[in-house]
Amino acid sequence: MSVSDPAPLDAADPLGPFRERFVIDHDLVAYLDGNSLGRLPRATLERLTAFVREEWGGRLIRGWSESWVELPVTVGDELGAALLGAAAGQTVIADSTSVNIFKLLHAAAGVRPDRDEIVIDATNFPTDRYLVETVARARGMTVRWLEPDLVDNVTTEVLTAALGDRTAVVLLSQVDYRSGTLLDVPALTEAVHAAGAVVIWDLCHSAGVVPITLDADEVDFAVGCTYKYVNAGPGAPAYVYVAARHLAAAEQPITGWWSAADLFAMSDTYEASPTIRRMLSGTPSVAGILAVQEGVRLIAEAGVEAIRTKSEQLTAFTIDLLDEAGLEIVTPRDAALRGSHVTVRHPDARAITERLVARRVVPDFREPDLIRLGLSPLTTSYAEVVAATRILVEEAAPIG
Ligand SMILES: Cc1ncc(COP(=O)(O)O)c(C=O)c1O
Repeated sequence: MSVSDPAPLDAADPLGPFRERFVIDHDLVAYLDGNSLGRLPRATLERLTAFVREEWGGRLIRGWSESWVELPVTVGDELGAALLGAAAGQTVIADSTSVNIFKLLHAAAGVRPDRDEIVIDATNFPTDRYLVETVARARGMTVRWLEPDLVDNVTTEVLTAALGDRTAVVLLSQVDYRSGTLLDVPALTEAVHAAGAVVIWDLCHSAGVVPITLDADEVDFAVGCTYKYVNAGPGAPAYVYVAARHLAAAEQPITGWWSAADLFAMSDTYEASPTIRRMLSGTPSVAGILAVQEGVRLIAEAGVEAIRTKSEQLTAFTIDLLDEAGLEIVTPRDAALRGSHVTVRHPDARAITERLVARRVVPDFREPDLIRLGLSPLTTSYAEVVAATRILVEEAAPIG
């Protein structure tokens, strides 16, 4: 490998100091799975400890009226502003990504009642595909599958060929969970609108690491998780975005008391909240939302543009090292076309991943033959990448 000393790169990295803001297990040689579960911010450790002791322990039920009840919306607004390019009142923290996709598919189909097709790509994440099938079945709709190449993924050409006057909803992921391909949100959203349909963007692998401008791009609906690049912890709640222009007509199916116009009225009949609260369902996880808030604040402090710049450099650096070793890469080589993970294809991917973990290098295995290297700019150092790729190359290409 030509790069044997990553120290100057780490020393010159403007985001380098952020690494110390996280709990770093120095026993690990490299953690390249921040795109599945981000590291724990020290501020979150302190915040949650204080919350458990003082707020839960000290305030008990009074905590709801004192501040907790507003958290889904206030932290939603914070996340929307810092990560999504969303003006206030359109983003709320709630449930899991899967549950929110279910809600949004129904809401989106409901704003195009005269149409009966949902479009999704066969490369999309399983939860997205399964839910599209379930919602289509429940509403008597048809699923139209896109079959794109994994690396090129959903281009405007591929999408446009499938759109028509029956298309109600299109569900796409901004960054493909396997190849890392970054889709063109403005162009694809425009194509969906030109066909008279609405789009739902799944931002799980992009929010916090790719600049996103939902309002400016006139996106209709979006959803994403917070435990990857937002570093909010395992099972932390997700977020939902509904463009203000759709809010009044967006009817979601899990109409719990938290989505009602008056939470504490205990009314006989259901009336949806006129605000983004209508996307809530039941009692939210306060601890989870506080962890989201800390993660969002760290990203806001670093700046998404600076994070993106390092992400492009880290992924390019990783690709160079893998290329030198002759490994097959299934991630776009143009930095503008990829998110923040780099994926290697190898017939022994599963066994190699197990050997890497045994050597304290943590990547991610994805069926059937992919090793994902997640590069999380606030925490991943160039030293980690060099150490990890050196061990990966040893394990992937045994001598003899
Ligand atoms: C692109 C994408 N969509 C949806 C999900 C599902 O999220 P959850 O399990 O939090 O519902 C994931 C999880 O990793 C994902 O990567």
